[in-house]
Amino acid sequence: MNILVTGGNGQLGLSIKKISGQYPAHNFFFADLPDADITHEENITELVKKNEIDIIVNCAAYTAVDKAESEPEAARNINVIGPRVLARICKKYDLKLVHISTDYVFDGESNVPLLETDSCDNPIGVYGQTKKDAEDMIAESEVDSVIIRTAWLYSEFGNNFVKTMLRLAENRNELGVIFDQIGTPTYAPDLAVAIAEIINKGIEKGCNIYHYSNEGVCSWYDFAKEIFGQSGIDMKVNPLHTYEYQTPAKRPKYSVLDKSKIKSEGIHVPYWKDSLKTCLEELKKQ
Ligand SMILES: NC(=O)c1ccc[n+]([C@@H]2O[C@H](COP(=O)([O-])OP(=O)(O)OC[C@H]3O[C@@H](n4cnc5c(N)ncnc54)[C@H](OP(=O)(O)O)[C@@H]3O)[C@@H](O)[C@H]2O)c1
Repeated sequence: MNILVTGGNGQLGLSIKKISGQYPAHNFFFADLPDADITHEENITELVKKNEIDIIVNCAAYTAVDKAESEPEAARNINVIGPRVLARICKKYDLKLVHISTDYVFDGESNVPLLETDSCDNPIGVYGQTKKDAEDMIAESEVDSVIIRTAWLYSEFGNNFVKTMLRLAENRNELGVIFDQIGTPTYAPDLAVAIAEIINKGIEKGCNIYHYSNEGVCSWYDFAKEIFGQSGIDMKVNPLHTYEYQTPAKRPKYSVLDKSKIKSEGIHVPYWKDSLKTCLEELKKQ
């Protein structure tokens, strides 16, 4: 298969690049701004034709959750118009589409793990609404597609919570971190493997939604404690309530994705603390 990864320089795109050598049967092509703007149909079409692409994996997104509240048009352009362009190209050239979505399509008020079939009638914030609108558009596009919702992505690439904690530790020995928002971290290279495995199994007719994060549950506070603990950093972490750390966008209170469906496909889901260890080892090598 010839696979085009859009948003190839983002943390998930780079994570797919990292694991792509494990899948020699596929040729991966990585593209990102400025040459491969997913809102520009001609650019993407040219790449698709030139490389005889069979599948587009869309990792391109507007991911600045807080900024999206004051820039809804910019968020909508990348998160809705972009995927619409990709779906149109997939339909025209009979390609399959893998699209990445988020737990923010839910309202964040659940207190049990979220199923793919749970209601997304009230997404949390502008970012969540744009991702939900893209999901609906893909489902209606009649393109054979897979949508994978994920959460709390981190890796050795790009900006993320793990790297922020390690950076703050360079000149602080005490931090406040929110303890009343619960979820599960996702090591982006683990998600990358899951994407490659889903492609290997073959993308079925219609639109199939899956949930993927690592296994287990924690708060941001627990996540921070584990990062410093595993790194051997002596840091005093103080638990903060959400109301003590105001952000422009609302965050989910409890956002644990139920992975039963993707696991029933034989896809392995590593425990979050084990994957964190892998990431910290990778960061140490850099
Ligand atoms: N990060 C998380 O915690 C998280 C959680 C849940 C779901 N997700 C979803 O997971 C996916 C991957 O996220 P990520 O963390 O890898 O995001 P990321 O690191 O922000 O990467 C997104 C990439 O898309 C590029 N991009 C932006 N606009 C584009 C356009 N018009 N055309 C082509 N490329 C464009 C960005 O380039 P620039 O950097 O130059 O803008 C960046 O390289 C996204 O769909 C995101 O919504 C992420």
